[in-house]
Amino acid sequence: MKLLNPNTRVVVLTGAGISAESGIRTFRAAEGLWEEHRIEDVATPEGWRRDPELVWSFYQGRRRQLLDVLPNPAHDALVDLEEYLGENLLLVTQNVDDLHSRAGSNNLIHMHGELRKLRCELCEVVVEAMEGVHLQDDFVTCQECPTGRLRPHIVWFTEMPFDMEKINAAVFECDVFIAIGTSGHVYPAAGLLAIAQMRGAYCIGVNLDPPENVDFFDEFHQGRAGEILPDLVTQWVGNEEE
Ligand code: APR
Repeated sequence: MKLLNPNTRVVVLTGAGISAESGIRTFRAAEGLWEEHRIEDVATPEGWRRDPELVWSFYQGRRRQLLDVLPNPAHDALVDLEEYLGENLLLVTQNVDDLHSRAGSNNLIHMHGELRKLRCELCEVVVEAMEGVHLQDDFVTCQECPTGRLRPHIVWFTEMPFDMEKINAAVFECDVFIAIGTSGHVYPAAGLLAIAQMRGAYCIGVNLDPPENVDFFDEFHQGRAGEILPDLVTQWVGNEEE
């Protein structure tokens, strides 16, 4: 059903599920990343301090995988949605892969950071780091300061997600909030749906399984995003075949 017009203000929140059909593992499924690694060992500042080699090799493996994966039709559908809405769409992703930007999304916030980038622990410079020299097993030293070591530019547990002020402001004002491929486990991302709902936005969920916060949705579509999102976007913008 045609839901949107070019002036509708839309916030889309994506999670690991939107990249699953591109071959990137999610976190909490049966064969998920957190089945193989303890979060506290590889995704916390303490884990990095305790065993930087373990954390570095975990992220170098995920960074190198970016060279082998491609966006899927769900990423492409969100590019179509941005072409229709322009500045009225804000895409907020929890994902640290680069598939949304490679598909062509522009109004994009990576609230949990980006695998493509590394950040100096000392001077905090953030560098685009997908050259061969950045993808080896050895640590990478900072080019901007004499002794800095680069860490993954990833928001670890207990660290503050990026751009929360901008994200909250957009969620406060949006008419429609769409969550795609996220289990609703991790805050503050999982709390955005409740804020949108409280502010009177029309809330839509698209997910393989009903997420934790499924009751907050006005409309829920169960399935693989790569399979069902393109048709949903076509319906929402009213491009269905007459
Ligand atoms: N299409 C749609 N949804 C899918 C698909 C698919 N093809 N495959 C899996 N899903 C759904 C799963 O049902 C699950 O609800 O995607 C969701 C993935 O949930 P998680 O693995 O918990 O990933 P996510 O919600 O993105 O995790 C949030 O937790 O570990 C942290 O920082 C990490 O950003 C991550 C955050």
